Amino acid sequence: MKWRVSILCENSVGPLAGTLGEHGFSALLEPENGSPLLFDTGQGLTLFHNAARMKKDLSAVDSLVLSHGHYDHTGGVLPFLDSYGPRSIYGHPSLFMPRYRVKDTGESTSIGLSASRAELEAAGASFDLSTEFREIAPGVFLTGEVPRTSAFETGDRGLCCDEAGYEPDVTVDDQSLVLVTEKGIVLLLGCCHAGLINTLEHVALCLGRRDFYAVIGGTHLGFCDQRQLDKTSKALRTLGIKKIIAGHCTGFAAACRLSHDFPKEFHLAQVGYTLEV
Ligand SMILES: [Fe+2]
Ligand SMILES: [Fe+2]
Repeated sequence: MKWRVSILCENSVGPLAGTLGEHGFSALLEPENGSPLLFDTGQGLTLFHNAARMKKDLSAVDSLVLSHGHYDHTGGVLPFLDSYGPRSIYGHPSLFMPRYRVKDTGESTSIGLSASRAELEAAGASFDLSTEFREIAPGVFLTGEVPRTSAFETGDRGLCCDEAGYEPDVTVDDQSLVLVTEKGIVLLLGCCHAGLINTLEHVALCLGRRDFYAVIGGTHLGFCDQRQLDKTSKALRTLGIKKIIAGHCTGFAAACRLSHDFPKEFHLAQVGYTLEV
């Protein structure tokens, strides 16, 4: 099966005139035959605008996949349902838990879903939730919960389950989407809170193959220390990935590092970027 993957929402924009950036991520997955899937929705600020500029018909989207329950990936769900009607939505059962970013100063911001499960269901959401690695369409898999096996991927310590910041949030619902293509495995990341290497190793174990062609999306490397970045770069080298298309929570410094370490493989994930596989 051939696919076209187009980034609809991202922090920055490419050269496509009139598109807009926002802190968020969304990608449209169009198969050669059949209906497209929407992977994440951004905050809902730029989804419709950018899709129109890119001449993408979102009404044709068959179902939505949510990488995790942060606002910058799920904020477009309610406007999508209001515009296009009921849809199946794939995700993890912990999508709806409360979440906060708590700064060292004690300042706390709610960063979970901006609509409740009941509001989304009233608007036509039919949730299909699982913690397991599973095939949701021919050649399309969701990782389910990703085991945190690497010693160096320590997660984002600023994320908490409670407003006061006592209970760390490991973002257990974080999952990525896998396309098995003729060119190899393509991995779509939301924020990859589970860790990039943890996620790649989990997919390799579940599929029994490790021919990764591309990773595309947010790596969360912008929130890790230099030691983790060093080890991630070394581990990526051994995997031989052909395209590393990173953006969103990768951040400027980590993107520069990846660009330096992988000059042929690295591409900046931006609104308008299209991958054909
Ligand atoms: Fe994010
Ligand atoms: Fe996130």
